[in-house]
Amino acid sequence: MHGITQQTKETYNKISSDYSSKINKLISDSWVGEFEKKLLNKFLLMIKISKPKVLDIGCGNGKDTYFFQQKGCSAIGIDFSEGMLKEAQNLFTQCKFHQMDMRNLEFSNDLFDGIWANGCIYHVSKKDFAKVLKEVMRVLKSSGIFSFNFKIGISEKIEKNPQSYGENPRFYAYYTNEEMKKILEQVGFKIIKIKPYPKKIFNEQIVHFWSKKP
Ligand SMILES: C[S@@+](CC[C@H](N)C(=O)[O-])C[C@H]1O[C@@H](n2cnc3c(N)ncnc32)[C@H](O)[C@@H]1O
Repeated sequence: MHGITQQTKETYNKISSDYSSKINKLISDSWVGEFEKKLLNKFLLMIKISKPKVLDIGCGNGKDTYFFQQKGCSAIGIDFSEGMLKEAQNLFTQCKFHQMDMRNLEFSNDLFDGIWANGCIYHVSKKDFAKVLKEVMRVLKSSGIFSFNFKIGISEKIEKNPQSYGENPRFYAYYTNEEMKKILEQVGFKIIKIKPYPKKIFNEQIVHFWSKKP
């Protein structure tokens, strides 16, 4: 595994328990929880299938995988961090989680009706994001929905002191809306909807995209 990816994984393994408690608190005590619930519901509405097969990429503590399962989906969560997966398995014993790198999705072609990636695609380099998109395109069924968010900006770098977890370095790649649109369209995705978060989180602007495999 490349150095930047390894460092990000080690950080998530180290902060997993604390990260899980903090994210649960953020979504229960602030506007973020209600806002993200709307994004999750919009994703399910766009899939337009009852009991869809849904993949949650970079699932972290599994909260979104659980949301999908509660809504009647056949849901699978994947994450490369053993620590985060342990949190997920402990919190949501009834859900399916697998250790996997988003750059190499170990699933057959045309399997999922929808793929969700919340707060994670910015942890791969821009070069690797092209690989992720090809994998997402491969494992999605035709007309499948890919729904994800990212941080607005222009750089890509290891942040030694990220705002949310100082002194625990993680890699981040930032995109502009135009850049992201172009990348998705180059791989063949059709962009359906773009929604900026109404306020910054940890001083950063986040944008949510919904896109479709033709
Ligand atoms: C900010 S957390 C978000 C977790 C979750 N999606 C949520 O909404 O709370 C980012 C997650 O992405 C995972 N991740 C980062 N790079 C990954 C990769 N290359 N493959 C799989 N998971 C990855 C991390 O382990 C971490 O759990």
